[in-house]
Amino acid sequence: MTLILGIETSCDETSVAVVEDGDRVLSNVVASQIRKHAPYGGVVPELAAREHLKAMDPVVRQALKDAGINSLDEIDAIAATNGPGLIPALLVGVNYAKGLAAGNDLPFIGINHFIAHIYATFLDSGIEQLREPSLYPLLALVVSGGHTALVLITADGQATVVGTTIDDAAGEALDKASKLLGLGYPGGPVIEKTGANGDSSKYDFPRPLTGGAGKAVAEENKYNFSFSGIKTSLLYHCKRLGGEDIALSETEMFDTVASYQEAVIDVLVKKTLKAAKDFNAASIVLSGGVACNGVLRQRLEDCTPKRIKLFLAPRKYCTDNAAMVAGLAFHHLRKGMIDPLTTDAFARLPQISQVPFTD
Ligand code: KG4
Ligand code: ZN
Repeated sequence: MTLILGIETSCDETSVAVVEDGDRVLSNVVASQIRKHAPYGGVVPELAAREHLKAMDPVVRQALKDAGINSLDEIDAIAATNGPGLIPALLVGVNYAKGLAAGNDLPFIGINHFIAHIYATFLDSGIEQLREPSLYPLLALVVSGGHTALVLITADGQATVVGTTIDDAAGEALDKASKLLGLGYPGGPVIEKTGANGDSSKYDFPRPLTGGAGKAVAEENKYNFSFSGIKTSLLYHCKRLGGEDIALSETEMFDTVASYQEAVIDVLVKKTLKAAKDFNAASIVLSGGVACNGVLRQRLEDCTPKRIKLFLAPRKYCTDNAAMVAGLAFHHLRKGMIDPLTTDAFARLPQISQVPFTD
């Protein structure tokens, strides 16, 4: 039995988890800072770092207690997200983890947040299935506030980012729309709730890089996303309907939100299914914070061809959490992928070439 303590501080959640053998989640404590950042309509990096500093120690203690761990002697390794994410926020978790590792003579493992989001899909559900060759090629759509990317994983663990956003992430597009409409932060959940009352076919928002409206998609953007144009068209739409101060009626607000969400989801699903077809994917994985969205989940369920296996990350592991960090770290440990205490944090997604969980 291998027990790993994982730490996640890449954005605005301080999370610590203890996971056994890569998928049995013994504890997963998430302390959200959402209320602290809400007045600013987005995450303020320095504020996030300071909040992580305050929360880290109590959250670690709570995670150990919830897991029934009395001493760090019972833990086999300490893992922390070391990127991509907000550098000031990441440094708090990475340094805390290194301190715990050094002080207790334990291995330290730095975890890629992006790959952890993909791995989150398989927590609690038996990771043996990840060794099943028939699952591959596996196409993962990771959609969050920081990322929107399509990753192709083959049975030998090779991973290639086949598409990514060329400007905003899908979650960012929802968060910024929510801010513009005065609906609050984070935008995703409130957009989903508000949009449920509206008619999603009422207004026609653009579907960038999908080849709609007679516009050809450049070869290099075939699987890429672009969401900044939708956001701009929302601003013009709102001013047209509600004037400079964007005074929309209740019905206009509901229909606007539903139609905007529909445009974002339509792009995500179209691009994913195109890539799945072109790369002959045997399975599709949906993960990341935006994967909480019920309309997106249902649409993928409805539209994915029967021959392709669809895996939707459990909602509780879609948004940032440390269970996915401790879970993925199990594979690093069993393969001897230990990191030195000089390991740095990184802000942007590096070239991914390999994932450790397919064999
Ligand atoms: O994965 P995550 O917690 O953090 C990042 O790594 O970015 O994702 C947060 C994002 C936010 O943009 C938030 O608005 C979005 O996930 N989100 C949702 C929903 N719940 C959270 N988007 C759409 N529908 C939801 N129900
Ligand atoms: Zn995330």
